[in-house]
Amino acid sequence: MAKALVLGATGHIGAHIVRALLAEGHQVRAAYRSERFLPVLEGLAVERARVDLDSLDGLREALAGCAWVFHAAAYYPGLRAARAQALERALSSTRRVAEELLRAKVERLVFTSSASTIRYVAERPATEADTEPWPLQSWRPLYTTVKIAIEHEMHRAQQAGLPLVITNPSICIGEYDAHPFSGRAVLAFAKYQIPFYLDHTLHLVYTGDVGVGHVRAAQRGRLGERYLMTQHQVPIREFGHLVAHAAGVSPPRWRLPRAVAYAAACVLEPLARAVGAEPLLTREMIASTRAFPRRLDGSKAARELGLPQTPLADAIARAVHWFRAHGYC
Ligand SMILES: NC(=O)c1ccc[n+]([C@@H]2O[C@H](COP(=O)([O-])OP(=O)(O)OC[C@H]3O[C@@H](n4cnc5c(N)ncnc54)[C@H](OP(=O)(O)O)[C@@H]3O)[C@@H](O)[C@H]2O)c1
Repeated sequence: MAKALVLGATGHIGAHIVRALLAEGHQVRAAYRSERFLPVLEGLAVERARVDLDSLDGLREALAGCAWVFHAAAYYPGLRAARAQALERALSSTRRVAEELLRAKVERLVFTSSASTIRYVAERPATEADTEPWPLQSWRPLYTTVKIAIEHEMHRAQQAGLPLVITNPSICIGEYDAHPFSGRAVLAFAKYQIPFYLDHTLHLVYTGDVGVGHVRAAQRGRLGERYLMTQHQVPIREFGHLVAHAAGVSPPRWRLPRAVAYAAACVLEPLARAVGAEPLLTREMIASTRAFPRRLDGSKAARELGLPQTPLADAIARAVHWFRAHGYC
């Protein structure tokens, strides 16, 4: 059994990778940054290592003796981040981390990227073969731009010898989401009971399946390949109904026209900034729902990695239950 280092082990995806590794009997070194989120690892038989990927503190020591590395701690910009600084931070930190990983001569690096890096294709569902060239020629939301830039850097490191497999999860829904980012979609309907929905389709995957998929990517993933991990394609209205049903609250009732949502975002963004919170809606979010209606084909990860296929209602129920049990809603 390989010894594995999980970077971002206290994160939503990392917490599931840790559990999937333990379920198969692997030894795990769980890297965390802030002690605040350590309860996510409570009760697990793992070695803990403090690692800061900005300063690289602890990374070299944490890598020692680990054949597999799972990197589920790549930078993503919050909804209030400034574009140029976010991009600069993403590129410089990815380069420095990749250099350390190359130096450590690991057997496998499974890097968690995002489904948002998959190119938009109009005429058919997009697959992992649809890559976006970098630098980008057209406007993309900041999150997407940052993720594409980071993937580009990781591919450069692969050409320099890093044994890389990339995973591209869509929106992850499940338990252990202690820093709810994708989980905000669940909380919007379970906690805030937002009565509105946008006419837009979400691509979703159960995070537990993503954790298992990462372990399979280390075992069977082909070097240099990307694996799009997505299972469910549902309109926001249907998603809201499933969440409301799981939480026992009222479902969203009214369709919010984009123009009204955009106007609401214009008000909510400065309000959120004033109180130091992440806004529920941003203008960029609304613009991206118009710019990128897309269909995704996640069959390669199902075929090659045997990605498990948990029903969406189960994933939502697990998320709602966990958020409730941990005081998030
Ligand atoms: N969740 C999704 O729906 C989704 C979908 C596709 C792709 N992704 C990508 O997958 C990655 C993981 O996502 P996630 O949802 O698991 O994120 P998350 O819940 O926010 O967790 C991020 C993890 O990375 C750690 N981390 C962040 N910056 C770090 C740094 N500079 N040094 C050391 N550790 C650091 C965090 O440590 P702390 O606990 O100390 O904060 C945490 O353990 C991200 O790159 C994200 O963009 C996520």
